[in-house]
Amino acid sequence: MFWKKIAQVEINDIIKKAIARNINYREQILLGLPGTFLDEEQFYPAPFLEDSPFLATLINNPNHIGCHTFSNGKSEPFFAGTQQLEVEVLKICAEEILEGETDAHDGYVAPGGTEANIQAVWLYRNYYQKTYRAKAEEIAIVYSQDSHYSMPKAANILGLKQYVVTVDDDSRLININDFDQQIKKAQKEGVKYFIVIQNMATTMFGSVDDIDKVTEYLTQHDVEFKLHVDAAFGGFIYPFATQHNALTFKNKDITSFTLDGHKMLQTLYGTGIFIIRKGYMKYGLTDEANYVSGKDYTISGSRSGANAVSLWMILKSYGSMGWAVKIQKLLDKTTTLCHQLDKLSIHYYRNPFVNIITVRAEYISEEIAKKYHLVPDNTAQKPKWWKIVVMQHVQQGMLDQFIMELKVENSKNKKSIATL
Ligand SMILES: Cc1ncc(COP(=O)(O)O)c(C=O)c1O
Repeated sequence: MFWKKIAQVEINDIIKKAIARNINYREQILLGLPGTFLDEEQFYPAPFLEDSPFLATLINNPNHIGCHTFSNGKSEPFFAGTQQLEVEVLKICAEEILEGETDAHDGYVAPGGTEANIQAVWLYRNYYQKTYRAKAEEIAIVYSQDSHYSMPKAANILGLKQYVVTVDDDSRLININDFDQQIKKAQKEGVKYFIVIQNMATTMFGSVDDIDKVTEYLTQHDVEFKLHVDAAFGGFIYPFATQHNALTFKNKDITSFTLDGHKMLQTLYGTGIFIIRKGYMKYGLTDEANYVSGKDYTISGSRSGANAVSLWMILKSYGSMGWAVKIQKLLDKTTTLCHQLDKLSIHYYRNPFVNIITVRAEYISEEIAKKYHLVPDNTAQKPKWWKIVVMQHVQQGMLDQFIMELKVENSKNKKSIATL
């Protein structure tokens, strides 16, 4: 995995040139687009924009409607400059982070991981319907109980069946016997085509699914499937941390990925990433999108090009090596916290290549959990788990104070047990 870090001045320069290739609402004749510059009272082109390429892109207000990775290159010509930066972002993700082959993928910057996941399911549903004349009731999504709620949302929106597989309560690994049961149940209920989801870091646990077990089963049992990896959380951490990543495009069973810039990458909200092997994006074609040059293959429609540019800026300002160093620091901090929890005999789940620690609720009082704003597995019922995510803003001091309070709480509990 390698992409080069570039200096800030160069970043500014490249973005300026990209903006210059986009249409300028103020200076060029443009009678046909409903887009324009942003409200001048609130978003005036101030002189400091010279040194702030992201804000300058926002003010330029490019619309990245459609998909810009098709080789025939037909996209809205008005925003070609910043579209090119989006294509570069997708290339880094597909070819460097996810180890795919050169120019072998399509995708787009989506509003978030939710849409990217729904986009995957939408394309596969249409693929089955077009290729096999499958009926909606013959297609199902299969995912683990720890998967993100965008999976049931996708099933609901797209009118598909869904089968939820249990995981082991300690290891959070998919229970393969239950996987077998769910597939058989689905087949009994008339399902012939499967959309299987695997996670690269689940929302609550940061657990990573054991894909080989699942694909081995599917192949052995001659099950027709397409496989999407939800790497919305893990995509910008796990591949940088582990030497043995089975969730890459090197695995021929995987067709698509979701990544999310607005989690680990610290870009702004609105920077989900959808990537799929070439040959599948066409199943998202809305042929009626006649006014869009190159038509539309995404769920989104209009979307801000500034979001794609923010991803490009972060990736280029670190380079792959800089990013790996940053991730390692976060993982080290997470590991230190785990050691401290071990000393207190507090039980938790953690994947060693992910910065999430999920503590069993009985080891933390609600008072401490609330004080430190830990996130419960369930906000409507008594939680079973509390989640800690060691992000950039989590200072060592905060963690030390948290551990101190846990220690005090622990010793009080022991005393009260001793006096019983
Ligand atoms: C694993 C996973 N997938 C998908 C999503 C959805 O992402 P978004 O909130 O960007 O739509 C999340 C969000 O937390 C997530 O953790």
